Amino acid sequence: MSRFRIPRVPATEITPEHVWMDRRRWLGRAAALGALAGAGPAAFAARADESTGPALEGRTNAEFSVMEKPTSWRDITSYNNFYEFGTDKGDPRRHAGRMVTEPWAVAVEGEVLKPRTFDIDALRKLAPMEERIYRLRCVEAWSMVVPWVGYPLSELLRQVEPTGNARYVTFETALQPEAMPGVGRRIIDWPYVEALRMDEAMHPLTLLVFGLYGKVLPNQNGAPLRLAVPWKYGFKSGKSIVRIRCVEEKPSSSWMVAAPTEYGFYANVNPDVPHPRWSQATERRIGDHILAPRVKTRMFNGYGEQVASLYAGMDLSRDF
Ligand code: MTE
Repeated sequence: MSRFRIPRVPATEITPEHVWMDRRRWLGRAAALGALAGAGPAAFAARADESTGPALEGRTNAEFSVMEKPTSWRDITSYNNFYEFGTDKGDPRRHAGRMVTEPWAVAVEGEVLKPRTFDIDALRKLAPMEERIYRLRCVEAWSMVVPWVGYPLSELLRQVEPTGNARYVTFETALQPEAMPGVGRRIIDWPYVEALRMDEAMHPLTLLVFGLYGKVLPNQNGAPLRLAVPWKYGFKSGKSIVRIRCVEEKPSSSWMVAAPTEYGFYANVNPDVPHPRWSQATERRIGDHILAPRVKTRMFNGYGEQVASLYAGMDLSRDF
């Protein structure tokens, strides 16, 4: 967990065209996001250089993007939590290539008027793709800044028309034992399941993600689709989703069942509520220099203005 990766690829003299194109794209995006304190567009561009895979672009959504330097493609795709492939941060990149992502279907069902199974191609076309730069804060006290490509989950939920009884939404993720060396270990009761309250699921920040850095999502990051819920610890954002279910009763998630004293339903980022085994007051930004100071963790991961009202009147030290 605490291994450091110092960027290994220096700015190179020979720049292949696709890299140069990426740089141009990033210059455009950074310009659209405005001038960034301490990080000019060139810094953005340098960090996208290593991205690979088929393109999947989205309109820059500056309103929902943070003004921070994105973590490099290399770090985002090689320092991962995806326990189905193993518990080492390098395991997902090593093994996730074996996961079969085509064909892929997602069942959206439960307390809805129009249950439906969507093919991945239909899902990709359901709403306009946006690019949003979100913070990702892991419960293990590290963080990244990630340029996701996707659209709000609410766009999908609206299609199936949740009934008045739909108070929560569960997300079941893929289970492919032959491709997933990690599921032989009963760390959690597979498949990995997460859940949100309906208003959290419908919040405009809750993103259904299909891409990263303008490319189709790599398997280790949750291909072909995952969630990004930026004000919650990263484990709430299930990867490689196969079933979305609207339900009336408050569900349990995999981590709540595995370790109920450590992981609650809400999992809102909260520097004042330590994990029973470590502090949540600060975080290590992946990719920062080894001597760089730790970053102070902010309530709701800095998204309080947008989401604090969802929890008005709740005691967030009890509902952690
Ligand atoms: N989804 C599944 N299916 N399996 C997992 O182990 N790990 C979670 C979340 N989604 C996980 C998952 C955790 S703990 C984090 S921090 C994020 O994915 C990490 O996403 P990233 O690897 O793209 O940074």
